[in-house]
Amino acid sequence: MLKTVVSGNRPTNYLHLGNYHGALENWVKLQEDSSFDARYFFVADWHALTTGYDQTDELKYFTGEMIIDWLSFGLNPEKAVIFVQSQVPQHAELHLILSMITPLGWLERVPTYKDQQKELAHKDLSNYGFLGYPCLQTADVALYNATHVPVGQDQVPHIELSREIVRRFNNIYKTNYLVEPQSLLTKVPLLPGTDGRKMSKSYNNSIYLKDTAEEARKKLMPMMTDPARVRRTDPGDPAKCPVYSYHKIYTTKEKQKEICEGCTTAGIGCVDCKKTLIEGMDSTLAPGRAKRLELNQNKKYVTDVLAQGNAKAQEIAKTNMEKIRELIKI
Ligand code: TRP
Ligand code: SF4
Repeated sequence: MLKTVVSGNRPTNYLHLGNYHGALENWVKLQEDSSFDARYFFVADWHALTTGYDQTDELKYFTGEMIIDWLSFGLNPEKAVIFVQSQVPQHAELHLILSMITPLGWLERVPTYKDQQKELAHKDLSNYGFLGYPCLQTADVALYNATHVPVGQDQVPHIELSREIVRRFNNIYKTNYLVEPQSLLTKVPLLPGTDGRKMSKSYNNSIYLKDTAEEARKKLMPMMTDPARVRRTDPGDPAKCPVYSYHKIYTTKEKQKEICEGCTTAGIGCVDCKKTLIEGMDSTLAPGRAKRLELNQNKKYVTDVLAQGNAKAQEIAKTNMEKIRELIKI
């Protein structure tokens, strides 16, 4: 059987460094991994409606920005089909079919359902669509016969549910046509925001892929450190310092050791420590940042890539959906 990777992301904001190291970077690796036969990466704009049906003003804008982030930081349209969910109406059609066979209890048991209702208490999440989120997600992957779905830990129960829905479909319609997807768990490095809290749009504490080196520097220099290190002469503990979480990604193991020593003995100051971090970050992100500036000058290329990706996804989805209609005798 062909090994097919499918994953998506909601276009509610620019990608931040946590999104990059937690997802996109891994997608790029999968793209280079020749043990996979096909890869589909899409902007899940319909999914964005499930938690923000009344905040659509910026969806198109962030859809475009997300594609630019992806292309700048490594997605290759020669190796992956890059598209927008809402441009392929078969996602909605398959979602409808799957929604008919999905027991309510299965959906109500998904942890993100109750968790998000609590976390996003300011939003109206008592909707049919929000409950059906994992059902739409199942359609997203089943439509392309996904075998592997790279996701973070929070999404694993969704993929488990997708397997159950697919199995149920195959049982009911006496087929083995739909493929059971499995999650490819991405280790998400813990990258806190500049205030030490979770990186989040609402906290205004994120560093974005679109930030220039100078903008990133301006966010990093005042960044929170180990609160116990009030004066330069106070020793610190890297384990309690958000800056150090970044060193784990951007700084060589050798230098990390030096920093640990310097920090715990008050041998180095936080300013120098941050400067070392910024050097490492700049060299890691420089190629992507440069490509982003270039793509911003070449919107036609981006539009063309997207048009091609949409067309390719539409073609596959159409063929698959025709087969599915046949199976359910509709
Ligand atoms: N639910 C995913 C998220 O919030 C986004 C998503 C939508 C997705 N459809 C998908 C991920 C299909 C993987 C496969 O991050
Ligand atoms: Fe954090 Fe570095 Fe300061 Fe230690 S020296 S507290 S690791 S910024």
